[in-house]
Amino acid sequence: MNGNFVDKRAIISPMTQPRYFALIPAAGVGARMGGVVPKQYGQIAGKALLQHVMETFAATPEIEHCYVVVSPEDSFIATLPAVPRTTILFCGGATRQVSVTQGLAAIATEVKPDDWVLVHDAARPGLTVELIVRLITAVAADPVGGLLALPVADTLKRSSEQGRALETVPRERLWAAQTPQMFRHAALLDALLKASAVTDEASAFEALGMQPRLVEGSPRNFKVTLPEDMLLAERYLKGSA
Ligand code: CTP
Ligand code: MG
Repeated sequence: MNGNFVDKRAIISPMTQPRYFALIPAAGVGARMGGVVPKQYGQIAGKALLQHVMETFAATPEIEHCYVVVSPEDSFIATLPAVPRTTILFCGGATRQVSVTQGLAAIATEVKPDDWVLVHDAARPGLTVELIVRLITAVAADPVGGLLALPVADTLKRSSEQGRALETVPRERLWAAQTPQMFRHAALLDALLKASAVTDEASAFEALGMQPRLVEGSPRNFKVTLPEDMLLAERYLKGSA
């Protein structure tokens, strides 16, 4: 072998290692919560839900940078304290899918096609650094991507239109999807552009015949949806649940 041979991969690879970014859709109106402000700005344990989420990503060394997607008309975000390594994008749309898609398009110049993007609902303030690291560790070598989710524990019923139990749906291998959902930037943007009306990122990949990895999440990472959820979220954040 030529003694001058240099394996360029060893030099190049540290530069081309995929990085991890966070994208937080926070452009919803919180219709089911029905509060005076959109629920991501509701206060729990002394801070807005969205503030808790931004600070959790900022406290995770693996995350290069965090992007938050708010509505172009948002007037609440300016009232929150700034968080390091976090940028606000005023490009939200009419649905979560549109908000995420427009956020991904907005960061396309800063993020490489193979960089990972962790999409996380602003309405899940119970996320922890440990859960983010658990997802990254489990999915970093995955060819598709993956998401936090919880195996379903309850017995499941399908109802009639009149609200009566028609049948019991076997819960074997059923999971409740959570976020973050972690996919490569270019693949995720492409999947979301092709998908028709999906409520999470994984569905867009499933529609293309791909099988995202399921990684066990936590009950504390539930989505705050109804007014009574605020108390439970507060209990988790104060460590009393
Ligand atoms: N979201 C968004 N853009 C939208 C709708 C939702 O960025 N057009 C965000 C929400 O802000 C939230 C996450 O997507 O962080 C999950 O959505 P959901 O819990 O449904 O929040 P809302 O749509 O605000 O609530 P609702 O459906 O009750 O109106
Ligand atoms: Mg919604």
